[in-house]
Amino acid sequence: MLVSAKEMLDKAKAGHYAVGQFNINNLEWTKAVLQTAQELNSPVILGVSEGAGKYMCGYKTVVGMVNGMLEEMNITVPVALHLDHGSYEACYKCIEAGFSSIMFDGSHYAIEENVAKTKELVAAAHEKGISIEAEVGSIGGEEDGVIGMGECADPNECKMVADLGVDFLAAGIGNIHGKYPANWKGLSFETLDAIQQLTGDMPLVLHGGTGIPEDMIKKAISLGVSKINVNTECQLSFAAATRKYIEAGKDLEGKGFDPRKLLAPGAQAIKDTVKEKMEMFGSVGKA
Ligand code: G3H
Ligand code: ZN
Repeated sequence: MLVSAKEMLDKAKAGHYAVGQFNINNLEWTKAVLQTAQELNSPVILGVSEGAGKYMCGYKTVVGMVNGMLEEMNITVPVALHLDHGSYEACYKCIEAGFSSIMFDGSHYAIEENVAKTKELVAAAHEKGISIEAEVGSIGGEEDGVIGMGECADPNECKMVADLGVDFLAAGIGNIHGKYPANWKGLSFETLDAIQQLTGDMPLVLHGGTGIPEDMIKKAISLGVSKINVNTECQLSFAAATRKYIEAGKDLEGKGFDPRKLLAPGAQAIKDTVKEKMEMFGSVGKA
């Protein structure tokens, strides 16, 4: 059964580790993430962007697929199905469709409008026992059409949004979606520390988890980050493994063109990436 992400993240914050959110795109992706979480006895959050939701034929299809997998794969670790960077409209659609967690990304609105919409969605989500993430400041780069300017969050605005009753909060601290450029200045731990001091027990979320060095991940966790989002890194490892299979001509040998064979190296690569992240984030054995 899907669970809200609140309990697992409160536990992570108190235990000084982070739970990974891994974005999914299809059945193979979802299966690979769930298998790894179960093998490592780790809680996990499945992230679904609006674009990926459309690609998978709508939120209801995603809910049906994930619920079926939880049952038929005998998944017993805590799993949350979370809308990633959702618009106001998408949040309502996912509440309706049976997601167990949503993110309202109102970071492109003026703070007053972000606050008003977040407040309304907190009530709507909590009425159904669904957890909700909000965003202040913005994450740089682009993810599935969501473009951010990358400005660091104002800690006072973070407090204002945290006080609305959101369950966890994403704050821009110099993090970027996609690959980090060579001249990246790194995370602003000063900003993160100030946010943590004002928001107390609120679990904080680090977006743009692809390629952040381990020492920065560990420091971020020590300053209150309890959820880390990873998307691009799984896509890169899937693409590299699939390319290797095809370039080696494996699809031309015997039944190597069968999608169950052709997609297997990519699925294994996703599993390897998810395992590496879960070990780095400290969530292994925490289910
Ligand atoms: O919301 C999802 C993420 O923040 C993932 O970022 O693609 O850089 O790993 P990433
Ligand atoms: Zn993100």
